[in-house]
Amino acid sequence: MPTIPETLRVDPGRLWEDFQNLSRFGRTQEEGVSRPAFSAVHLQARAWFRERVLAAGLKFSVDGAGNHSARLDCALPAAGKHARVLLLGSHLDSVPNGGRYDGALGVLAALEVLRVIKDAGLALPVDLEAIDFSDEEGTLLGLMGSRALAGKLTRAELAAPRGGRQALLEGLGRAGLDEAGLLTANRSVQQVSGYLELHIEQGPRLKSQGMQIGVVTAIVGISSYRLVFTGRADHAGTTPVQDRLDAAQGAAAFILEARKLVLQQFPGCVANVGLLVLEPGAYNIVPQRAVLGFECRSASMGELERLEAALLAQAQHEAQRYNLGLEAELLSRHAPAMMSVKVQDAIAGAAEALGLAHTRLASGAGHDAQSLASLCSSGMIFIPSQEGGSHSPREHSTWQDCLNGANVLLGATLRMALQQMDQTI
Ligand code: GLV
Ligand code: MN
Ligand code: MN
Repeated sequence: MPTIPETLRVDPGRLWEDFQNLSRFGRTQEEGVSRPAFSAVHLQARAWFRERVLAAGLKFSVDGAGNHSARLDCALPAAGKHARVLLLGSHLDSVPNGGRYDGALGVLAALEVLRVIKDAGLALPVDLEAIDFSDEEGTLLGLMGSRALAGKLTRAELAAPRGGRQALLEGLGRAGLDEAGLLTANRSVQQVSGYLELHIEQGPRLKSQGMQIGVVTAIVGISSYRLVFTGRADHAGTTPVQDRLDAAQGAAAFILEARKLVLQQFPGCVANVGLLVLEPGAYNIVPQRAVLGFECRSASMGELERLEAALLAQAQHEAQRYNLGLEAELLSRHAPAMMSVKVQDAIAGAAEALGLAHTRLASGAGHDAQSLASLCSSGMIFIPSQEGGSHSPREHSTWQDCLNGANVLLGATLRMALQQMDQTI
């Protein structure tokens, strides 16, 4: 393998300035960020990213799914006109009142790696691209940009998106996109040589084990459902309790029983009811409809399917118990994904060269890397999350850990790019 330029490092001041500036878009009172996909502040953050790309002297492009890319044409002449590209990235959108690091760190570190390699004037066997994937968090669809790029987006998903059809169409419209374009963003294995993503762990394991870097082995599968319990609206003061068809009872019973079911029968899996709307929604009306948004996760596809079936059977049981109707709609199912062992080794090698303590672990959070895994050799670098908090303004990683992660991203990028020379990926 050609020699790796081990002394290259990211520029801490430049990365810090970018991180601080990006954190201003959608900043919340509690020092978190709210940047739901294609909201006004998300569009502002995207415009800011474009400016940073151009200021770095990199090529900027946007595809049909709204993915924003910075490209460094650093491929050796020997790679020919159609050199493959090594992608580095994550996402700039956030959950409502989320943290400043989730996604943002990975995009900014990817851009910084391109700047460092450009400044060093390195020629590699591949071109490099730093990418901000659209709607990772699922405000509209979930993993939208990365699934589109990997050619995994389906018309069925677009017809019944997790955030609702109207929200999808309006969001796309605000970003100057449309559905037809979404289905044109796919790339081929001949174009993409691999994918690397730096991310905060979003859990407590690295910190509690005293580890500085996590090498991700696999990413959980995630299924999302909308459940609707239907009863009858009645006067809340005059209808005897035993005569009510109260949709809220079915929803409440399901929420409690789902927790028990997971704890007792599905160790290692999780389920979450994160949305609950009672209609018509007044103090003095017995709820006619309870609409729940829930998701469940497992690292094994078979177990994920069994968990879904068990949760739906539980919902049916609660509907019968309270004489309610029940509709269940599957909104999305993202399969668990294995990370490439070669990429894991490249990440571990980069951490080793920097003297950073590292360990291998699976991700309980979803990531764009799980979409890319079906297209190319993919891998993820985790850094410790203080207190493990995430999807909340409590999200925090030390700046030293962020820099360590960015330098491992740089080292792993060089390893993957140079391995390409041996056609080993
Ligand atoms: C994305 O952050 C997810 O795990 O839902
Ligand atoms: Mn993320
Ligand atoms: Mn997230």
